[in-house]
Amino acid sequence: MEFLKTFTPELTVESPGRINLIGEHTDYNMGYVLPTAIEKKIILKLQKNGSDSVCHVYSETYDTGFELDLNTIARSDVEWENYILGVLSEISLRTDKVRGFDCVLQSDLPTGSGLSSSAALECGLAFGLNELFDLGLSNLEMVQLSQTAEHTYVGTQCGIMDQFASVMGKSGHVILLDCESLEYDYIPIDLHPYKIILLNTKVSHNLASSEYNTRKRECAEGVEIIRRKHPKVKSLRNVTEEMLNAGKPEMDPTVFNRCSFIIAENKRVLEMAKALRQKDLLSAGQLLYAAHHGISKLYEVSCAESDFLVEFSKDNPDVLGARQTGGGFGGCTLNIVHKDAVDDFVNAASKAYRKKFDIHLEAFEVEPAGGTSFS
Ligand code: GLA
Repeated sequence: MEFLKTFTPELTVESPGRINLIGEHTDYNMGYVLPTAIEKKIILKLQKNGSDSVCHVYSETYDTGFELDLNTIARSDVEWENYILGVLSEISLRTDKVRGFDCVLQSDLPTGSGLSSSAALECGLAFGLNELFDLGLSNLEMVQLSQTAEHTYVGTQCGIMDQFASVMGKSGHVILLDCESLEYDYIPIDLHPYKIILLNTKVSHNLASSEYNTRKRECAEGVEIIRRKHPKVKSLRNVTEEMLNAGKPEMDPTVFNRCSFIIAENKRVLEMAKALRQKDLLSAGQLLYAAHHGISKLYEVSCAESDFLVEFSKDNPDVLGARQTGGGFGGCTLNIVHKDAVDDFVNAASKAYRKKFDIHLEAFEVEPAGGTSFS
């Protein structure tokens, strides 16, 4: 792209991906989640370019870019461009202060691996433009407008977790976020002598493809049925097992399973927070396995590859627990592995995975890291 010849960034934003320790699909059900930002990130270099409305965005990592005009923002057929366009569209509903800019992206965050590269891109851009054009947006506003951009431009009716974790992460902590009140607490996480190891199934899901939105609809359907007897209920957050069981006869069995998973998963988040506070790593590991069982059998957002890796880990006494992390249908499994056993575990898992699926497994350690920042 021509603009690169004169590109001199005025600011650089580091925008991290995230893992979710536990609490999957609970965010849009107004429940609890326990995510954190990680060191893998997208770097956005930005400069004003003097134009009123023409902007350039170029990804060095993927060697692709595009030009856009702030006056004619519309959805693109190219998926990743919609993360940018959606954020610009949402910002334009709040302020008219943005002018022409150039942006160069670099990333070590694998896409489609359930580590929220999309949220990192959205929030990183919002963060950068907020500074570059003095927009006066708060962190929460940037989180929320990025989430809405995903609804309107990408088509995934996602919850708030990914954007929140990317912006608000804190090194050495996970975030206990109440997705109803948006109150949050940083919980210190000390797993020593264990480490968090991610195994990337390399199976890519497309959340925008109907399954994610279907799960959200199924949960809403369950809430509607429960509301017939309990009109005050607004979301699954307010539903107990007893209330759910009372509604069971009127419920499609699939809807019942979805709701049942969410109610149990919310409890697991609170139990995990307690286990971390008490450094009860055995319980933490068991909670991961219980969560994966629900993800796979009740919420049905796992896949053969993730199930295989989680099952494989169960044979290894040096792994305390494992589950698929993120939206589902692949991405990464999160494993709590003894530091001295990491290499052996990864080698054995890679070998077994290749034998079963003929896919080269990717493995890496992650540590809770700080949220979006300037460098
Ligand atoms: C995706 C969504 C999040 C959340 C997770 C599942 O990552 O973007 O809002 O719903 O799936 O927990």
